[in-house]
Amino acid sequence: MPRADIRSADLFSETFTGSPTRAVRSPGRVNLLGDHTDYNEGFVLPIAIDRDTHITFRTRTDRAIHLTSEHGGSVVVELDQLEHGDPAWAEYVRGVAWALGSGAGHGGSGWDGAVATDVPIGAGLSSSASFEVAVGLVLDHVAGVERTPTEMAVIAQRAENDWVGMECGIMDQLSVAAARRGRAMLLDCRDLSMDHIPVPDDVAFVVLDTGTRRQLTESAYNERRATCEQAAASLGVRSLRSVSIDDLSGALATLDEVPGRRVRHVVTENRRVLAAADALRSNDLQALGSIMTESHVSLRDDFESSTPSLDTMVEIANTTTGCFGARVTGAGFGGAAVAAVDRSRVEPFVSEVLGRYREATRLEPRAHVCIPSDGARVVERPSVS
Ligand code: GLA
Repeated sequence: MPRADIRSADLFSETFTGSPTRAVRSPGRVNLLGDHTDYNEGFVLPIAIDRDTHITFRTRTDRAIHLTSEHGGSVVVELDQLEHGDPAWAEYVRGVAWALGSGAGHGGSGWDGAVATDVPIGAGLSSSASFEVAVGLVLDHVAGVERTPTEMAVIAQRAENDWVGMECGIMDQLSVAAARRGRAMLLDCRDLSMDHIPVPDDVAFVVLDTGTRRQLTESAYNERRATCEQAAASLGVRSLRSVSIDDLSGALATLDEVPGRRVRHVVTENRRVLAAADALRSNDLQALGSIMTESHVSLRDDFESSTPSLDTMVEIANTTTGCFGARVTGAGFGGAAVAAVDRSRVEPFVSEVLGRYREATRLEPRAHVCIPSDGARVVERPSVS
């Protein structure tokens, strides 16, 4: 199958007459370390991946978006009449247009667009953030508005929180918007400052999709977030970021068992993210891998966002030659794990892990070897096949 940029350009010319103005390329992301820390104002360490969403587009003279998707048919979104509706994927378009203030301040015109994606959907690789940021870039380009990646990420997050209803943090949108090629992004979710850390050449990051789709993600996710916020309030702090490792035992003494375990995950995970960033800086891949595996244990036992399939995948990865470490990644509750693997061993690693996992579970897993990539951009010339 051709890549998403080609499919998007082809879909555009099949659907609309005339030439497109431009295209937008927007990647997915995988988080190496730091899950369920972003909405607690903590640290995360994601990379953008070399799997993209592409929208090929052309400016219209009215205020309507005509968008066609390779999976979901077509939709018309009137910028002056934003209302919830079907299909579900178009909610991201309406949400971003709404968050950009299209109904009121955003003076841009509408556009014709065709979207295709190579970001696997529902695997925990942020296909929705990738799409949101892509839509935001098209809207801004058409309106002649320039904005920083951080500003765009905040808008895309608002679309997800306040229009779609998923109480996500900022990690996905900000990594999709601002990540850099060859680097991992250490992000402080309290002040949104970031440090782009070079990724050593000898490591490959392999996304291991368990073949299970995320279950109850939204409700379980929102419930975990609420527990963290209630725990912070009862500890008298603005967010769990303010609880240090030294404060932890005192904090645990005042909390019930379940909120206590959630807090312990967040506090120890923040420390692990900083240690993982140091391990990358000093090219210590064994240390990076051990920290990833510790993170998995914490997410499994304290945060309870792993699943039996994810645990099996991580266990198999960790006992296969070439693996430095592995963990559930992203929201969890199904989806994918990520493994840090010795680059020279990637091929045998992938085939052994997939074979052993298939045998153990009878599920159909997939592996994606990911290269740290640049954040979303308007692309000068859309590719046409
Ligand atoms: C989802 C959310 C992110 C983050 C992760 C867990 O991907 O969208 O904001 O909270 O889960 O780390």
